[in-house]
This record gives sequence, C-alpha cells and structure tokens, in this order.
Amino acid sequence: MHRRKDWIAILDFGSQYTHLIARRVRECGVYSEIVPFNIQARTLLSKGASALILSGGPASVTGRKSPICSKDIFNIGVPVLGICYGAQLMAKVLGGKVAAAKAREYGRASLKVRSAANLFRGLSAREQVWMSHGDKITALPRGFKIIGSTENAQIAAMADSTRNFYGVQFHPEVVHTPKGKKIFRNFIFDISGCRRGWNMHSFVQSSIKELKQKIGREKVLCALSGGVDSSVLALLLHKAIRKNLVAIFIDNGLLRKDEAKLVEARFKNYYKLNLKVIDARREFLKALAGVKDPEKKRKIIGKLFIRIFERQAKKLGRIKYLAQGTLYPDVIESRSPIGGPSATIKTHHNVGGLPKKFDFELIEPLKDLFKDEVRLVGKELGLPDDLVHRQPFPGPGLAVRVLGAVRAEYLGILRQADWILVNEIKKAKLYRKLWQAFCVFIPAKTVGVMGDQRTYEYVIAIRAVTSEDAMTAHWAKLPQDLLERVSNRIINEVKGVNRVVYDISSKPPSTIEWE
Ligand code: XMP
Repeated sequence: MHRRKDWIAILDFGSQYTHLIARRVRECGVYSEIVPFNIQARTLLSKGASALILSGGPASVTGRKSPICSKDIFNIGVPVLGICYGAQLMAKVLGGKVAAAKAREYGRASLKVRSAANLFRGLSAREQVWMSHGDKITALPRGFKIIGSTENAQIAAMADSTRNFYGVQFHPEVVHTPKGKKIFRNFIFDISGCRRGWNMHSFVQSSIKELKQKIGREKVLCALSGGVDSSVLALLLHKAIRKNLVAIFIDNGLLRKDEAKLVEARFKNYYKLNLKVIDARREFLKALAGVKDPEKKRKIIGKLFIRIFERQAKKLGRIKYLAQGTLYPDVIESRSPIGGPSATIKTHHNVGGLPKKFDFELIEPLKDLFKDEVRLVGKELGLPDDLVHRQPFPGPGLAVRVLGAVRAEYLGILRQADWILVNEIKKAKLYRKLWQAFCVFIPAKTVGVMGDQRTYEYVIAIRAVTSEDAMTAHWAKLPQDLLERVSNRIINEVKGVNRVVYDISSKPPSTIEWE
C-alpha cells in the first residue's frame, strides 16, 4: 500500500459485480482494493483508506446469517458509498429500515433524480439505472434524505451529505447505468477528495524500484509461456534485474504454428532476456501417446511440465526467488470470505502452474492488477500490440484441441488450419472483438469429392466466441463470407482436411474448448 496515498477500500459482500466496482475506481486513476466485509475499522484506519464502498451481495439484510460489517467503519471519518446490499446494510446499521419488496426488481429502471448535488452532480432529472434487488429500504436512517426514486423504490438513493454517507439501490458499476462513471467520479473526487495517482506508468516505475530493492543481487527464476501475463512478468523483471532473471521457456510441442520460434526471437534475441529454451517436444508427445481421456492428458502435461522445469532449475544452482504471474482476480478468489465474486472471475484449471513445495521464495509483481491493467503494463514496457492483446491459450495447448489421442500428424494439420483462421480473423479486424477464435481437430474421416475423386479425410471445427470472463460465452456471429473464405482456404491449403464445420454452441451448456 505504501506507493499509493489515496485509495478506496471496497468491502466485499459477495456480489458478482464487486470486481467491477474495483475496476471502475481504478479507471478513474485511484487505487482500489477489495477487502473482506468484516474488516476491522482500525485496520482501515491504519491502512489509510480515503473512502469506503460497500458492495452488493446475494444475501438479504433481513436474514439472520447475512454478512454484516462492523458498525465502527462509519465512525472513522471517511465517506462511504453503499451499493445495493451495501446501501441496505448502511440503512439498517445506521437505524433505518429494510423490508422484502413485493416484486423483485431486475433490469433497467428509470431513476428520478431528486437532488442533482454531490453524488448526483451533473445528472439529468431522469437517468437510466440498472437494478437487481429483492429487498428495499423502507425508512431512512436519521440524517439522511432521499436523492433518487424509481417506480418501485421510493428510496432508490439516499444521502447524508454532512457525514458523506451515500447509498444507491442500483448498480452504478455496470454499463447499463450509463452515468455510473460520473457517479463514481463524483464520489471519488468531489466527495472523497482523492487525487489521481494510479496509472501504469507509475506502476512500472515503482515496481522496478521495489523489485530492485527487494531482490538485490539474488537471482530470480520464471517460466515464460509466451502469453500476456508471463511475458509482462518476465519483461518487468528483466528491466529491474537484467541478467539475474533466468526465464525458462519449455516448448512442449503443443504450441501454435511458429510460436516457439517467435518467443525465442522476441525475448532472447530482441529483448535480450537471459532465456533458456527447452525443446521438450518429443518428451511430451511420448508421454501423451495413445492417451484419449482429456483429464488424463491435462494431468500428464501438467506433471511433465513441472518435472522438466524442476530438472532445469536444479541445473542452475542456487536461486532464491521464483516469480509468478498471479493476477488480482486470483488473489480475490483465494481470499474471498463468502466466495461471492469467485464464481465469475475464476481463472482456469491452471495447468502449467508450479507446485507450492518448491524451495523458492515467491515474487508476484502483478498480483494487484486486473487483466486489462496487465495489458497496459505490457504496452508501457514496449511489448507489441499483437502480444499485449493476445487471446487466451490453454496451458495444455493444442492437446485439448486435438480430440482424443494426440499425434504429430494431427497437430500439424491443426496448426495450419488454425493459422489460416486466425489470420483471416485478423484481416477482418475481428480478432480483438472475440474472446477466442481457434480450430479444433476432429479425428474422424468423412467422405468428400475433389475434382473427379472421392476423398476420405478429417474434419476441422471452427470455434469463435465472445465473452467477458470465460465463465459464460456466446458463439460469435462471424460474417458468412469470412466463414466461407476460411473454409475454402483450409480445405484447399491443408492436406488431409475435406470438411470444415462451425460450432454454434454457447457456454453454458457447452464449454469454450472442446475438451
Ligand atoms: P472452457 O473450455 O472451460 O474454457 O470453457 C474457459 C477458458 O479457459 C481456458 N482453458 C484452459 N486454460 N488450462 C488453461 O490454462 C486448461 O487446462 C484450460 N482449459 C480451458 C480456455 O481456453 C478458455 O479461455
């Protein structure tokens, strides 16, 4: 916390939107951190929080086991904004009343702004807001007045502008509340008096300084995969400690076309990282030979990765630190006392992760950052756009995109097909609009006809989805001419394929990957 003077604590009552609140605050240039709902007032005081936001949550404040914050947090002299459950809790704790509403209110609502001052400064008489609640505030606590109403909620927003306590029944953090950002800015700057100090330029500068100080002349080991997080991590450490960072890149033979070459060219030759490239292609293929079960494949790959990494680490002699690209959502998830937000922001399976029993001290320089912020750090460090905006790629790589047993032949076909798809998608300027777009190899042969000849060849499936966080995803409505071009090119250019199909299933009930 030492590098940020002004920061806002977000007490987490388990809303799926808690992490969005944190992001909105940071987008304003002020650091925010999600803390447990039952945090002690003295902890907030000692950490110097400039203001508090109470998140929404799935519980009802009228329930007996509902999460309740300490009453003392209202006595530490900083502004408080309660959102949805947070507003109801504020009402209840400060002496107002909350009751179950007759009808649940969910979706868009029209807010009648009754006081366009303080929190609502700059808003019009009517504003669209997003509601999602079952209970409502039926009596104001002492000192409060109503500042906004909707058809279903007389007290949709309340304020005690003397003590700087504000409560809104709606969700200003979601995009369906168009003036949400304005409301946050009013709270953060006008009401709480925060100053901007959170941006990725200063993050990089202070991180490099801190890393230098902490690491001194010791060595740091890290696994580079070529994805966004590990690339940013490695380059940040390289800027801080140069040759004392030893990065290991393991080519498991399950990567996309030219990927291993690119990582080596970029990080070893261009950025001049102390990078060890390990060619383990044969070892992985051998370990996977004949294995059809997807979970078994994942386990084999995960274990072998660790074994090879350990083997390499041993060769390097004594290294004190291991750097990992843990991000803020992982931290929130592992700390969440009610597990609310965890469901939506889970990062996946984590094959390629390293075991805890390693004899290293951990360094996690990205652990305060959201994914968007990591991308900005990447830009700040000078990483090229194609890397910074790379779509996610699963740890077990193409092994989960070749259905059933993995073979070199299948991987070769898949690589070529995938290359064509991704290139066409980039040409159509759709790459960044999609969460992921890739090909899947189906080891089944179907009949086709080419010229006068019958063919009997494999099937390639195209998978393209839009998503916010990979927990849910929609199949992308790719333009038909693009699909046609990709299909033609794959069938004409990739030997062994005579049929291309398009996956039109969403998640749930399907998953993004096929295995
Ligand atoms: P699913 O297929 O579960 O994928 O809808 C959701 C997201 O997670 C990625 N994914 C993985 N990532 N190791 C990873 O590191 C894995 O084993 C793995 N399986 C799926 C997938 O690409 C998608 O972004």
